[in-house]
Amino acid sequence: MLLHIVFLISLLLSTYSNASVQDFCVADLKGADGPAGFPCKPPATVISDDFVYPGLAEAGNVTNIINAAVTPAFVGQFPGVNGLGLSAARLDLGPGGVIPLHTHAGANELLLVIHGHITAGFISSGNIVYQKTLKKGELMVFPQGLLHFQVAAGKKGALAFAIFSSANPGLQILDFALFASNFSTPLVTKTTFLDPALVKKLKGVLGGSG
Ligand SMILES: *[C@@H]1O[C@H](CO)[C@@H](O)[C@H](O)[C@H]1NC(C)=O
Ligand SMILES: *[C@@H]1O[C@H](CO)[C@@H](O)[C@H](O)[C@H]1NC(C)=O
Repeated sequence: MLLHIVFLISLLLSTYSNASVQDFCVADLKGADGPAGFPCKPPATVISDDFVYPGLAEAGNVTNIINAAVTPAFVGQFPGVNGLGLSAARLDLGPGGVIPLHTHAGANELLLVIHGHITAGFISSGNIVYQKTLKKGELMVFPQGLLHFQVAAGKKGALAFAIFSSANPGLQILDFALFASNFSTPLVTKTTFLDPALVKKLKGVLGGSG
């Protein structure tokens, strides 16, 4: 019996020490990004600044067609999150600003409103819309892969931060995929049932071709 316990404890200890052989894996962005992330920078060259990202301190420039800016702190900008399964972004919304319908194929999202009001929501696989107007301090989650949006509510702009459950959440914006790409007008029309004149107009606005 005692032997069994000693054996179990040593097994647990060895599992534990195997799991903690590597504290971190700061991305070497010169390496190739794979499903397991980037290769690690040699630990001897890692410095404190590798674990700090100052890039979300500044407001993004909202002088654009969506009157909004998303500033990412994904692994590409913030190599310290490599392998940690999380990352962040800053959302600046001018008055009337909108983050158009988009998905993150690789991450759940947690949104925290810092100031202003944001109407946010997502559409489930069953085509049910879950939406809410959020105020300062409120959180909303957006499950991985589902289409979702954020819109400034009221007359003022808003600020929010998003936390993602992946170092590399991915981002695909539906309107940009359709109208800023080289997806041909006849096929966009065919696959979306939209009017060709509208498709051409949106391609003109968003810079798509074909
Ligand atoms: C914001 O972007 C607009 C449009 O690209 C540009 O004209 C303007 O100079 C930028 N503002 C700042 C503060 O960078
Ligand atoms: C879109 O453009 C890319 C290159 O930019 C090209 O490889 C691809 O074949 C194009 N697709 C269509 C449908 O024209």
